[in-house]
Order: sequence, then C-alpha cells, then structure tokens
Amino acid sequence: MADTVRVAVVGLGQRGLQHLKALWTLQGRGEVRVVALCDASEGNLAQDKIRKFVPDYDATEVHTTTVFSEVIYRSPEAIYFAIPPGLHDGQVLEATRAGIHIFAEKPMSLFLDEAKEQAEAIQEAGVISTCGFQRRYEAQSLTVRDVMAGKRPVTTTCVVDGSLEAHSVKHTDTASMGGPSDRVWAKNFEWSGSTIVEAGIHQTDLMRFWMGDISWVQAAYVPREEDDIEDGGDNPYAYAVTYGFENGAVGNLLMSRLRKVYHSDGYLTVMWDHGHLKLEGEDVVAYYYDGPYPPEGTPSKDEVRHPVPTPPRVDTNLAISSAFVESIRSKDESKMLSTYASSMNSLAAVLGANVSHLRGGERIDLTAFSEDDAYAPYRQKRTP
Ligand SMILES: NC(=O)c1ccc[n+]([C@@H]2O[C@H](COP(=O)([O-])OP(=O)(O)OC[C@H]3O[C@@H](n4cnc5c(N)ncnc54)[C@H](O)[C@@H]3O)[C@@H](O)[C@H]2O)c1
Repeated sequence: MADTVRVAVVGLGQRGLQHLKALWTLQGRGEVRVVALCDASEGNLAQDKIRKFVPDYDATEVHTTTVFSEVIYRSPEAIYFAIPPGLHDGQVLEATRAGIHIFAEKPMSLFLDEAKEQAEAIQEAGVISTCGFQRRYEAQSLTVRDVMAGKRPVTTTCVVDGSLEAHSVKHTDTASMGGPSDRVWAKNFEWSGSTIVEAGIHQTDLMRFWMGDISWVQAAYVPREEDDIEDGGDNPYAYAVTYGFENGAVGNLLMSRLRKVYHSDGYLTVMWDHGHLKLEGEDVVAYYYDGPYPPEGTPSKDEVRHPVPTPPRVDTNLAISSAFVESIRSKDESKMLSTYASSMNSLAAVLGANVSHLRGGERIDLTAFSEDDAYAPYRQKRTP
C-alpha cells in the first residue's frame, strides 16, 4: 500500500462537510491527510462553522482558500468536488490534467457535454475516479444486487414522494447569484436540473446497479403552477419516468415534491422473471415459489415469502470514501462500486428524462442523446 493519501475538498456545503467528516475519520486511521479546503464563501471555511458538522476538525494544518488554483498548489493526490452541479468551471479538468484523482459529486454536471469532457479527461489522465453514489454501499442495495445476480431482470418501480419543504439546508450563497434567497437551490429547476436530476439520479443509479445499464428513457412531468412558486421553488410537482434497460427490462421512477403537505413516503419493487424483491423495514424480502410445479393448490404467502439475510447498516459516506482511498492506495479501481466512466449512464438517463419531457414524451435513445446533432442543444452548457 502507498502512504497516506493527501486529499482536498472543494465545496464545504452540505455534501462537502459530510465528506470531510468521513475523511477526518480516515485521517485518524492514518489513511488520508486533509491538506486543503476550498469554498467560494470565506465563511464556509471558518473552523467554528465546520466544527458544527465535523466536531474533531482542526484547521491547524489545513490550507483553506477561496481560490481553486491554491488547492492544486498544495499537491493533493485526490480532490473531492462538492459544488452545485451548474457551477463547474473547468476545475475537474484542471485537477485531472494535473494527475489528481477525482471524487465528483452527482450529478457530475447539468450538461452532458461538460460531463463527457470531464470523463474523457479522466480517462486520458488515467486517474482513479468515482462519483457520489454512496447508496450502492448500503447493505440492502448490496443484498438486492446479490439476489439479482444471474437472474433475468424484468421490471423495477420506485416511488419517492417527498415534500418541497423537506429539502436539506444548503450553504451556497445563491441569493448573490440570482437564486433562491434561502440557499435551497435543490428546489429550483435552473440550479438543480429538476428533482429527477438532483435526487432521482440516486434511484436511477441503484436501478442500474440491480438491473443493468439503461438504453432509453421516456418521461412526462407535471409543471408547478406559476402562482404556487415561492422563492424560486419552481421544480415540477411530479415526474413519471420510464427507463428501458439494455437487457429488455423496463423501470419506472415516479417522484413528487408537493408543497404544504409535510409527508413523505415511498415504495420499491425489483422483479426478475419468477420473483419479486421488496424492502420491508431493514429487511430485503423475496417472493417466489420454489416447490414442485405446478403446485396442488395456491401456495400461501408464507410459502412464497423468503426474507434474505441482510448485513447491518453501514455508514455509506465512510464506505464510499474508504473504497476510493483504498483504490488510490492500491492503484486498483475494482475496490469501488462505480467510477466516473461507469456513472455516465446514470447521468445520461436523468438528463435524457428532461429532454423527453421537453420534447413531449419522445423516447430518447441514450446513445443518440450523447452523440447526435439533433440533441446538441440539450447537451451544451447554458449560462443563465
Ligand atoms: N451524494 C449525495 O447523497 C449528495 C447529497 C447532497 C448533495 N450532493 C451533491 O453535492 C453537490 C453539492 O451540493 P451541496 O448540497 O453540498 O450544496 P451546498 O450549497 O450545501 O454546498 C456547496 C458548496 O460549494 C461552494 N461553492 C460553490 N461554488 C463554488 C466554487 N466554484 N468553488 C468552490 N466552492 C464553491 C458553496 O459556497 C457551498 O459551500 C451537488 O452536486 C449535490 O447534488 C450529493
């Protein structure tokens, strides 16, 4: 194993602070050393503020800066990027070309061309990379993946009904950039790219983890009424997205973010040709019949219900960082459950959902979306 990995974090908001907390634990184990922190707002770099989220944080040996080039100057071996996805401005490219390993938060960009450029630079430089899909490291996710291994996936449906007011607190000074006054940029279409892009990319990525890569997407959204928009919270009320997988399976991702409801719930099913998988509390439960066929009578629920042993919950933020750091130390990407390159299909799928909605529910082939001139305007970076 190589020595301690020198790391930096760019963006010390909700997500960057979670990463710093995990990195501080790894620093305590001698696996990393946090050498630099960078944020656009000086106040987000103050030790007292950071300690509210990372109680053990000690700024003594950490270079803090609002200037990205100073981060590179500190020679980190890896950089975590946790800035809003519409605010990338060449930093990932600069780091990659300097031979620095990349942890890029999801969604890697709101613009497919920008993400493709980052992916190509990462491949050319040969650096280790991953994206913030820590949900793959959940015990239940791994159990579902193991159950589905070798089976013929047929369909999956995921329903996520959230409340608009339940968005997490954010730290970007959005008001100074014409965004929401309360910093909650995730509720705004321009900033977040839609709830499907900002949040649904997690469910989309899990569907791929269990079912395989996505080849097409079709979507319809229910736009929020003008008179129901407060402080930039203009993301649609609801989203119905259908994915076609390369193996012929289909998936449905149904999401909503209603205001004045204060209730959230959800549902998940994953099916292969002769069984259902459900998440029931902490358990993964498979429903299938495995007796002599055909049975003499209809099997009881108990006969078809098969709880699948699932390991206890883990700290997934620590798990994904451990895997990333271990990959760097051992120069072996197979320790991680996804790389930047392998995450591109998740990004294309959610950005493709937006395109389908904008084009009246057109079925978007993801290869065509990524390459054809007809879709170029949807892929290119737009500045507000
Ligand atoms: N994987 C996950 O579960 C998860 C959870 C939350 C957020 N995220 C992702 O992490 C990213 C950041 O989201 P967040 O919730 O932390 O947002 P946030 O607004 O809370 O924090 C972003 C931080 O980046 C800083 N920043 C903005 N532009 C910058 C720049 N050019 N250089 C340096 N710093 C800059 C802001 O000042 C702010 O402190 C987003 O892509 C988001 O989707 C992922």
